[in-house]
Amino acid sequence: MITIAHISDLHCSKTGFRPKRLATCVKEVNRLRPDAVVVTGDLTLNGYRKEYEIARKYLSALKPKTLIVPGNHDARLCGYEYFDEFFGHGNNSLDLDGVHIIGVDTTVPDLDEGNIGRGKLRWLVGELCKRPRSHLRVVAMHHHLIPVPNTGRERSSIANAGTVLDALIKEGVDMVLCGHRHTPHSWIVDSLVIVNAGSPSAVKLRANIPNSYNIIRIDDGSIEISIKEMGGKERAVAHYVTSSSEKGLVVSRRR
Ligand SMILES: [Fe+2]
Ligand SMILES: [Fe+2]
Repeated sequence: MITIAHISDLHCSKTGFRPKRLATCVKEVNRLRPDAVVVTGDLTLNGYRKEYEIARKYLSALKPKTLIVPGNHDARLCGYEYFDEFFGHGNNSLDLDGVHIIGVDTTVPDLDEGNIGRGKLRWLVGELCKRPRSHLRVVAMHHHLIPVPNTGRERSSIANAGTVLDALIKEGVDMVLCGHRHTPHSWIVDSLVIVNAGSPSAVKLRANIPNSYNIIRIDDGSIEISIKEMGGKERAVAHYVTSSSEKGLVVSRRR
C-alpha cells in the first residue's frame, strides 16, 4: 500500500496563521510515516521571505519525501523567487512503487487565478508519457480544476481549466491533488479523481470547516481518501476502485 499525506494552504505568516496546528500536523504526519507528503501550495500569506523561512522550518521537519508546488499567495510580490530558492522548482515529480506524482506550478505572478499555459501543459503531458498507464499517475497543483462545493462565488480557478481537465483525462491521469479553497472535497470526472485538501493552519476557513489535511491510501484495486482534523479523528470520506484495462487503469466510485 502507498500512503500519501496531502497538505495544503499552510499560510505561514505573523497573522492569520496557527503555528501550533501546523506543528501538530507535522508531528502527526511523521507518526503516520506515509510514503510521501504532497504540499499543494500557499505556504505563505504574502510571499515574504520571513514567511518562507517559517514555512521551511515546518516543512523541513517532515521526515517522508515531499513534493511541493507553489500557490497564488506564494507568487505575490515576486515571492516565486523565494519559492525557487527555498523549495526548488515548482514543476517536479516523485516516483513511488507503482504511483507517480507530478507537480505543476499553476501560479501567475500577483494574480489569484491560475493558468497552465501551452508550454507547461506540453511539459506535463511529456512527463506523464514517461510513466506507464498501468501505474497510478497523479498530478499535484494548487488551483482547483472544477468548483468546490460550499465555497461561495467561484473567482479564482485555473483560467483554462476546461483545456487542462480535457488534457488530463485524455492522458489517462488517475488523480489530481489540489488546494486553494481551504475546503476538503473529492469529485470524480470520467475516470479522474479530483481531491481538494483543507488547510491545517490557516485562520481563514469557511463556517464549520475545521483545520485539516488529507490522507490518501492507494492499494491494489482501491483508493481511500480520509480527512484528518488537527488533533482529532481521521474520517474516511471517499472510496474509489481501480481496475486494469487495455488503455491503463480505470478508476470509479465504489458503489
Ligand atoms: Fe490558500
Ligand atoms: Fe490559493
